[in-house]
Amino acid sequence: MINTLVRPADPKDHQQISNLIFFESRLHRHLDWRSPLEWLGAPFYWALEEDGQITAALACPTERERIAWVRLFVYTGRWSAESAWNIIWAAARQEIAEAGGATVAAIAVQPWFQDVLATSGFENRQQIVMLEWRYQPPFAFTSPREPGELHIRRMTEADLPEVQRTDAASFDPLWQNAPETIRKAFDQALYATVIENEQGILGYQLSTGGGQRAHLARLAVHPAVQGKGAGRALLSDLFRYITYAGISRLSVNTQSDNQASLSLYQRTGFVRTGEAYPVYTFDVSPYA
Ligand SMILES: CC(C)(COP(=O)(O)OP(=O)(O)OC[C@H]1O[C@@H](n2cnc3c(N)ncnc32)[C@H](O)[C@@H]1OP(=O)(O)O)[C@@H](O)C(=O)NCCC(=O)NCCS
Repeated sequence: MINTLVRPADPKDHQQISNLIFFESRLHRHLDWRSPLEWLGAPFYWALEEDGQITAALACPTERERIAWVRLFVYTGRWSAESAWNIIWAAARQEIAEAGGATVAAIAVQPWFQDVLATSGFENRQQIVMLEWRYQPPFAFTSPREPGELHIRRMTEADLPEVQRTDAASFDPLWQNAPETIRKAFDQALYATVIENEQGILGYQLSTGGGQRAHLARLAVHPAVQGKGAGRALLSDLFRYITYAGISRLSVNTQSDNQASLSLYQRTGFVRTGEAYPVYTFDVSPYA
């Protein structure tokens, strides 16, 4: 008889989980700055083990308090998606409830994972939509209008604590990034800038890429100065940078119900590509 067990995954499982990620096509992986292997040893990471072999894994470590993104779900052909998910999710849900509850969220790119989430009670509250800006000659640069006393400069490592505070003030809790994630994003950025006044940083953008393409990975303006042109100025400066760098396409993702960002992107020349992926969430209540 096969002995099946769901247990916390730990750093000793690195090789086995890394093999699962590498060899299995049955894989959901979060669009992320961080590898799912980095989280081994963190709470909310489980391995489904059969006779000592890991045949499925689920990671939804909490990046911000009580927000747990599904960063990894992988299973071998020994299972169907539903059977692996049902076993591991039942254990996960119980442990999350015992730990005080959390909102578990996932951007489900693949239809099989959308089905799994929908059938286990996750709700599809919004979509992630993709937009793209393309250089179209002749492109007339107006100098980015820096509103009032605000000015734009390159981000430095010393700015990270202030950038992290701006991020936390600007985004809803579900979409806030942990300081460590923002640091990783900064390390991998092609072009990162801040907009500030003499009191400090009030907004930033962070873009990745190279070759012909770049991706605007993060843009935030502090609520105290939103609606005053800071977002448009950061974008205008970015358009100028990527054009001088010979990059002709800039992509961005945003939420389908984020009116401010959709409006900003559309007014600065981005167009929807038609790609959209559902965001599913499930609120695990704490055990009373
Ligand atoms: C999205 C965001 C960066 C916009 O920055 P901002 O400095 O407030 O935007 P701007 O003042 O430069 O506005 C630029 C354009 O967008 C439009 N816009 C901005 N906020 C808007 C809102 N709440 N509703 C509708 N349109 C809006 C403006 O009409 C403006 O167009 P116009 O200059 O042609 O009139 C800011 O609201 C923010 O940080 N939000 C939270 C984080 C976020 O959602 N980031 C983007 C995630 S992908």
